[in-house]
Amino acid sequence: MSAPERLAVFVSGGGTNLQAILDACRQPGYPAEVAVVACNVAGAFGMERARRAGVPVVLVPHRDFRSRAEHERAVLDALRPYGARTAVLAGYMRVLSPVLLDAFWDRERELPGVLNIHPADTRAYQGAHGYEFALGLVPGARRLSETRVTVHFVDRGVDTGPIIAQRRVPVLPDDDLERLRARGLAVEHELYPAVIRAYCEGRLSLAGGRVWWDGKPIELD
Ligand code: GAR
Repeated sequence: MSAPERLAVFVSGGGTNLQAILDACRQPGYPAEVAVVACNVAGAFGMERARRAGVPVVLVPHRDFRSRAEHERAVLDALRPYGARTAVLAGYMRVLSPVLLDAFWDRERELPGVLNIHPADTRAYQGAHGYEFALGLVPGARRLSETRVTVHFVDRGVDTGPIIAQRRVPVLPDDDLERLRARGLAVEHELYPAVIRAYCEGRLSLAGGRVWWDGKPIELD
């Protein structure tokens, strides 16, 4: 068996997706390990989850830097000793610049080396309030009957990269933000480790702007 893929997981907040990934990595035969956690927000609980799992943490607050590029160069410098090849964004509330995206580009597989999870269909909503969008709580939105948790490769846009996988999450009549988020996060916690597994096993490819699983293009409805 080949060595596990070394992940850098990026967090800004509570880190429940990080926890799901840490838990998955403990399963025998899982093809990845969390080599390091990167965080941009002092006090974020995600860092505590990493420490409890014995994973090193790199805290680089973006507020200390004048530009996005400068911040990302500092993050890359701090990450270098850990040898991570893949960046997994797990509630990392920063738009990435080419500095970070290019550093993680996987030349061997010709794939972006940065993955993200998003609480909505990225074709319908981009931004930081996916569950609020599904509930009609952001300007111009109407309440939906479902949201679709999406895992995608990160490109230079905001939540515009090629979609790798989606799962439907129903929005129930008596849902408030807390209830919908809890139901959605439970789906996120299954989907993300499954996608990371497929990525690390080399089952994903990219052609014609679309992601292919095991040589077949994904179908989105
Ligand atoms: C998750 O719902 C994730 O999908 C979302 O932030 C939350 C992080 O929760 N990401 C985005 O909205 C990215 N646009 P967590 O810190 O508990 O994993």
